[in-house]
Amino acid sequence: MNPNSDRLRAEFMDAVYRAADRRDVDYYVDRARSVEGPALELGCGGGRIYLELLEAGVDADGIDRSAEALALLREHAADRGLEPTVRRADMTDYSADRAYGLVCCPFNAVQELTTIDSQQALLKSAYDLLAPGGTFVFDTFVPDLEYIAETWGEWQRRTIEFRGEPVEYHTRSRLVDSVTQEYVSEKKATTQDGEQLFSFEGRATLLPYRELELLVRSSPFESWTVAGDYTDEPLNDGHSAQVWALERTET
Ligand SMILES: C[S@@+](CC[C@H](N)C(=O)[O-])C[C@H]1O[C@@H](n2cnc3c(N)ncnc32)[C@H](O)[C@@H]1O
Repeated sequence: MNPNSDRLRAEFMDAVYRAADRRDVDYYVDRARSVEGPALELGCGGGRIYLELLEAGVDADGIDRSAEALALLREHAADRGLEPTVRRADMTDYSADRAYGLVCCPFNAVQELTTIDSQQALLKSAYDLLAPGGTFVFDTFVPDLEYIAETWGEWQRRTIEFRGEPVEYHTRSRLVDSVTQEYVSEKKATTQDGEQLFSFEGRATLLPYRELELLVRSSPFESWTVAGDYTDEPLNDGHSAQVWALERTET
């Protein structure tokens, strides 16, 4: 394996996301099936959710800023006989030639936007991409300060099955700016013999509920609901994912 390969990294991270066994896939597929019109996934990555949308018969498009992730998605799609319509683009500045019933941005991707300008630009883009009556759904994790205090700064490690072999996945998150609450997550993968396959780090920001509420209030969206953990339950203390559904009203 080429240790510096972006492709290897994209494929491995896709395997990590799939191994997480999250409950979000069914949630987003159900949402897409229940709206009128096509769906668009912002930050579709290697297609963990996007390909299930296609498999479920949803007319879905996807965008991502990573060329490697999109190449991987296309390979997965070809293996499954699916025909993806995805392109490389930035979710904070994207427009399309059709209007969507659902725009979604799953799995904490919104947290990768670390400035208020980029977060507001995303909400404006999503609004403009929707048909009247359409919904923008995204999720972020609820910052659990006890968990953060206990685990951040320490390497966490788990074994991922990758290309038929067990590979060790190591992550360590640390706050890099306590004013803006930005953090860096370091990630690396090593073989059972200790050989490093790749390492990289990504910057993101904590987004507590009230900060998101202020952002949404300053957006063009007229109404919204917030559920916990991909259920119909309103978000409450104890949920680990906050799932925001923003409505563009009918005109
Ligand atoms: C955590 S991954 C989630 C991938 C996929 N949605 C899933 O749930 O498995 C976040 C994705 O968002 C993409 N992303 C982050 N910022 C972006 C931006 N500004 N524009 C487009 N894609 C972006 C990343 O490249 C990455 O593929």
